[in-house]
Amino acid sequence: MMSKLFEPFKMGSLQLKNRTVMAPLTRRRAENPELAADEMTALYYRQRSSAGLIVSEGSQISPEAYGYTFSPGCYSPAQIEGWKKVTKAVHENYGKIFIQLWHVGRLSHPLLQPDGQLPLAPSAIKPDGQVLTHEGQKEYVTPRAMTTEEIYKTIRDFGKAAKNAMEAGFDGVEIHGAHGYLVDIFILDGTNKREDEFGGSIENRARFLFLILDEILKYLKPSQIGLRLSPKSVRPDAVDSTPEKTFGYIIEKLNDYNLAYLHLSEMMSPETRLNPDFKSIIPFYRKIYKGTLISCGGHSHESANRMLENNEADLIAFGKPFISNPDLAERLQVGAPLAEPDKTTFYHGGAVGYVDYPFRDK
Ligand code: PHB
Repeated sequence: MMSKLFEPFKMGSLQLKNRTVMAPLTRRRAENPELAADEMTALYYRQRSSAGLIVSEGSQISPEAYGYTFSPGCYSPAQIEGWKKVTKAVHENYGKIFIQLWHVGRLSHPLLQPDGQLPLAPSAIKPDGQVLTHEGQKEYVTPRAMTTEEIYKTIRDFGKAAKNAMEAGFDGVEIHGAHGYLVDIFILDGTNKREDEFGGSIENRARFLFLILDEILKYLKPSQIGLRLSPKSVRPDAVDSTPEKTFGYIIEKLNDYNLAYLHLSEMMSPETRLNPDFKSIIPFYRKIYKGTLISCGGHSHESANRMLENNEADLIAFGKPFISNPDLAERLQVGAPLAEPDKTTFYHGGAVGYVDYPFRDK
């Protein structure tokens, strides 16, 4: 099928072979004491390198940033060595890959934290729900409000992790600023009740994010940095009272940064995305943001084409379809049927449901 999705795209200094992006997907396969990506991780991403751009699963920037069992980190030498296998595999197949750097903030648990400490957050507000630990499901706890010192240490951790990522051979890094994790809960006025320079006004709540960007810019070029945001909250316990004003301010300011891209996540089903009554937040922010925009959430070939044809986004990210269709970009291009992913192996199962989805018969 002819479509804009398969036209190449120049993103900063990177030439992408098409406009499909593999969205960051938690897979929890780093089942080793080092929490390092390994040969199997490399195979998984190698199989998916026909995407124009791969964004890796979230990789914790420090031991405190950890909240998902067996997620691979980006702070230790062993982890850097692990990621080298991944970037080599993707580049051998002419793919491009950014690593997603995340700090889960309060969406963790003492059982996942160094020395059993309380997870970190701008303010001591407990999230709703449960978290999977190495000892099973546990209720979230009330996190600890970060000290100023801890805030600056975390900013430096982001910088170090970005530097590590470049050493590991990534084409760039994506800061995870979405979905109720640490950067997001600094931004949102429902979760940030601080009374210092990191809380209160929009400018203060966005300070953490912009200091992280400035720190990473000590080591990387702007064209090597992407940012993911979810201006429409995906968790009812992590919201802002004036999201368009808050994210409008941030996204306007991002115009000065010349980043590789802004990645806007709207979590939804493909049915919702295609419903004529559905109103995406993307057109609103498209008008504000001058750089490369990625749209993610519930995309099908049809919705992707529509957005690209309407010039509402430059690149389209696909998540779940990339789990079960390693050659998703090629399948979409020739109109081949798509395989459905098995939800039971999203987060565990070793090689099963990870590297064993077949390529299409040619
Ligand atoms: C997930 O594991 O389902 C997940 C993780 C990080 C996100 C979103 C979803 O940002």
